[in-house]
Amino acid sequence: MQIITTKQELQSIVKACKTQQKTIGLVPTMGALHEGHASLVRRAVAENNVCFVSVFVNPTQFNNKEDLAKYPRNIVRDAELLETIGADFVFAPTPEEMYSEEEMNTTFEFDFAGLDQVMEGKMRPGHFNGVVQVVSRLFYLVQPDKAYFGEKDFQQLAIIHHMVERSSLAGTFGDLKIIGCPIVREASGLALSSRNERLSEAEKQTALGISKTLFESLKWAKEDGATVAKVQQRVIDTINAIEGLEVEYYEIVDQTTLLPTDTFDHAIGCVTVYCGPVRLIDNIKYNG
Ligand code: PAF
Repeated sequence: MQIITTKQELQSIVKACKTQQKTIGLVPTMGALHEGHASLVRRAVAENNVCFVSVFVNPTQFNNKEDLAKYPRNIVRDAELLETIGADFVFAPTPEEMYSEEEMNTTFEFDFAGLDQVMEGKMRPGHFNGVVQVVSRLFYLVQPDKAYFGEKDFQQLAIIHHMVERSSLAGTFGDLKIIGCPIVREASGLALSSRNERLSEAEKQTALGISKTLFESLKWAKEDGATVAKVQQRVIDTINAIEGLEVEYYEIVDQTTLLPTDTFDHAIGCVTVYCGPVRLIDNIKYNG
């Protein structure tokens, strides 16, 4: 496995892969890798001739400086894990290598067709502008055939699909296929997240209330007289009743449009909860 830190080196390696007609899989990450990332990398390794993993804590997608400063970083451990699971190349640039000063300080403009106006986008203004900025740059540099993203960040996945299929950028990435991969959970149900590293053991136990409530809500949705509005409120009330947890939002939306829905068909419930100072997200699909 080779670690690359410059765009120039990356592009010459990509060029060589293309000349040899090798298919390329890309897994974009911000490091602090866990089994969720590992599952994406294993799939990318299995489905492509060459697997690139980017490890880059993208400053432009953080609207909160403290969150950026506290984001866990451990490139040595990340590289060890990636080596064991068979990644071929790790791209780990500095922010200065990725962006000019102007790019770092101006919001990347993009037509989200409204997908950024809800949930994470509403709570973290500018977050998805930074995500699209970095992901489109990675696609441009690596020219992958397939790129892998976790479904835990469901809104991010929907926006990346939109970017590749329907936006003004569609067509710029060739036949690129976006592969969404299922959430990986601890045996306890807790969705794996790099942010879990910031939870104490006690907070981890408390955080279990999130996934437990989401799974319970699948049953509530089947009860006589159940409506989306009632289930949504019950989830919020149940999680808020757990000491140490505070719901920022829980929204049951259509899986494609991310707009509020009044049917459980093709619906997904997306939650953000503060567990102490740590902001955790999770989701559950109700039907299909
Ligand atoms: O999901 C993430 O880790 C990040 O948002 C991504 C896609 C790597 C872009 O920085």
